[in-house]
Amino acid sequence: GGLPSFENEPMVDFTRPDHRAAFPDALVRVRTHLGKTYPLLINGREVRTADLMPTVNPNNPSEILGQICQAGTKETGDAVAAAKAAFPSWRDTDPRTRADYLLKAARITRTRIFDLSAWQILEIGKQWDQAYADVTEAIDFLEYYAREMVRLGGPRRLGHAPGELNHYFYEPRGVAAVIAPWNFPLAISTGMASAAIVTGNCVVYKPSGLTPVIGWQLTELFREAGLPDGVFNYVPGRSSVMGDYLVDHPDVSLIAFTGSLETGLRINERAARVQPGQANVKRVICEMGGKNAIIIDDDADLDEAVPNVLLSAFGFQGQKCSACSRVIVLDAVHDRFVERLVAMARATSVGPPDNPAHSMGAVADDNAMKRIREYIEIGETEGKLLHEGPVPAGNGYYVPMTIIGGIRPEHRIAREEIFGPVLAVMRAKDFDEAIQWANAPRFALTGGVFSRSPEHLAKARREFRVGNLYLNRGITGALVERQPFGGSRMSGGGTKAGGPDYLLHFMDPRAVTENT
Ligand code: SER
Repeated sequence: GGLPSFENEPMVDFTRPDHRAAFPDALVRVRTHLGKTYPLLINGREVRTADLMPTVNPNNPSEILGQICQAGTKETGDAVAAAKAAFPSWRDTDPRTRADYLLKAARITRTRIFDLSAWQILEIGKQWDQAYADVTEAIDFLEYYAREMVRLGGPRRLGHAPGELNHYFYEPRGVAAVIAPWNFPLAISTGMASAAIVTGNCVVYKPSGLTPVIGWQLTELFREAGLPDGVFNYVPGRSSVMGDYLVDHPDVSLIAFTGSLETGLRINERAARVQPGQANVKRVICEMGGKNAIIIDDDADLDEAVPNVLLSAFGFQGQKCSACSRVIVLDAVHDRFVERLVAMARATSVGPPDNPAHSMGAVADDNAMKRIREYIEIGETEGKLLHEGPVPAGNGYYVPMTIIGGIRPEHRIAREEIFGPVLAVMRAKDFDEAIQWANAPRFALTGGVFSRSPEHLAKARREFRVGNLYLNRGITGALVERQPFGGSRMSGGGTKAGGPDYLLHFMDPRAVTENT
């Protein structure tokens, strides 16, 4: 039968006592599962390797969440072979049947929403609402792509010449490598993998080394949904050992990647080289970085602008490709805005997200901490430090919440993605200059404008050329279907996750013409 129309999964509601109570309960429950060893999953079978890597709580790295078996090239090759073998029958499975597996996975995910949130609080340091939002986004991808596949599944008739029957339809490409980031560890993994699966491809999934337990949770969701063996394979591994091998593999036809610009460009370059025995021209779907700006016009409602800039810049410690890393403030309102921004930033409480009073916590790992601290030092020489928040005691990977003023477009912290809680403040003489500066970096992912001027908002629509532009609201938290997400220029290859074109990238169209 037909499916009810798509609706976004509701967000967490902290006015509900049951929601408030569910988080501490789930944290306790999940902590009873710490310290396990996690296998790979290849062709429906759990595979153990001798090479183990721990995954830890970034707010307390001595809390070890689990030991993860690492795939080498042998296991990665086995996973590609399993996916290749499973492909013909999965390709020929009715699209609606494929969609039903996603819908079943969505139902299972809903029943575990708090445990899945708790794993994110522990494994990557998300605040409660942010963790929950990642799980609801995963459910949204499953529900939305299932419906999209039903929409695209049948042949379309083209033309109307007498005596000729033209059919146009889509076929999957084969083996898809899904290479996922740690910052939306369930949502983005689920989005890329479910798109590949529902279109009829078979997946070799490499989670981020920082969030492999969440990757395993996704593996269990698909396994319990009953996906046939080999359709989804879980191969966590060291990028330095098996990353290039997976990308280069002649039997991989599609690579869906979300992560850094550097890695995305490397994947593009390697995927372009044809290997002996390779059957398909590889396609790369890549979502990379951002250097996103919010413009504060001289008539902006500061009651709205200040909290929205703070949340966009510092939610989840600023570790979102969509995060605000530059605020471009018109001269006339600059000092007033900055005063209020800094006052509100000072009220931020920092610490482990086990405690919901903390709205900022540790960053992802030691490397991230070092890199961000270097950028703070660079920023302090380029501009003027306006705010540096406190850093909690302990061994967590903390960096201070940092706001730096007096930044100009040529400064490094105005151009390079930092991926942390560092906000650059820029003073523009007028709206035209603000737009010009907003567009200056090589990235073009998200952007925002706070203004009451219809002319300025119209100008921003035309000339603020980012993939996702938000007017008079925050710039993170794109919702599936309502804000298809992805950028252009060096932010990505022009794909929009959660949008109406997304599945097309996972398939090739065919046309069949019959003389009748
Ligand atoms: N989709 C996320 C957001 O909009 C970023 O990946 O914040």
